[in-house]
Amino acid sequence: MKIGIIGGTGGMGEGFALRWSFNHEIILGSRDKQKAQDIAKNHMDVLKGSSYHEKINGNISGNDNVSVARESDVLILSIPYENIQNTCKDIENVISEDCIIVSPIVPMSRNQSGFYYVPFVEGKKSAGVMVRENLPNCDKIVSAFHTISEVKLKDIESPLNADTFICTDNKEVLVNINDLIGEIEGLRSIYLGSLELSYQAEMMTPMILNASKQNKLKHPGIKLV
Ligand SMILES: NC(=O)c1ccc[n+]([C@@H]2O[C@H](COP(=O)([O-])OP(=O)(O)OC[C@H]3O[C@@H](n4cnc5c(N)ncnc54)[C@H](OP(=O)(O)O)[C@@H]3O)[C@@H](O)[C@H]2O)c1
Repeated sequence: MKIGIIGGTGGMGEGFALRWSFNHEIILGSRDKQKAQDIAKNHMDVLKGSSYHEKINGNISGNDNVSVARESDVLILSIPYENIQNTCKDIENVISEDCIIVSPIVPMSRNQSGFYYVPFVEGKKSAGVMVRENLPNCDKIVSAFHTISEVKLKDIESPLNADTFICTDNKEVLVNINDLIGEIEGLRSIYLGSLELSYQAEMMTPMILNASKQNKLKHPGIKLV
């Protein structure tokens, strides 16, 4: 499967790429094609030097965001909340009809009290709803991975031991997304509901970061018990 990562040059992009390169063709996207290609090469070098190199059946390459969007079966929007509108405008006409779009985007900021969820404080929409509004021709949009720390995602030697909440308006895509989540050792998928409920998953991230800071916890996640 071809998994494209828009904004794949960031920390989350690295984690997704390393974790899924075992079985898939990963294409890192960037506004700067050369940057994506250089970072993809670095990731391949890391994988070749790891104890996992014999288990890698896929690969990681890089390209500009629009080319990545055109080629992908699954497209992760690994970009800041503020850039959803512009990025979607660039890619909306090239995404294939069957492409599954995944938003791990968390609208979050910080003030003197701590981290906060931007839509509540600033009267904006959740990232999941923003993506749906800006990609009106896509009916396979999934919101997921909000509470997974990039540090843990990048550490491919360690299982995650965490849950991730999934929101989508199209339950048919759950099979595909659950398969991808299942390939990340120690990560469990928990279906939450439609994209209207994406805010409930997204707002956990500032909550976790505040708890982490106040209690000196290292990259905690969420797990339902
Ligand atoms: N970091 C975490 O632990 C974590 C955890 C859960 C969820 N998330 C969410 O996952 C997403 C990605 O996180 P991240 O930490 O990897 O983000 P990031 O490093 O801040 O940004 C990822 C990429 O977005 C692209 N980008 C930056 N400004 C842009 C703009 N103006 N227009 C278009 N693209 C732009 C950049 O790629 P190019 O410059 O190469 O184009 C950058 O490498 C975010 O929405 C974040 O809220 C993060």
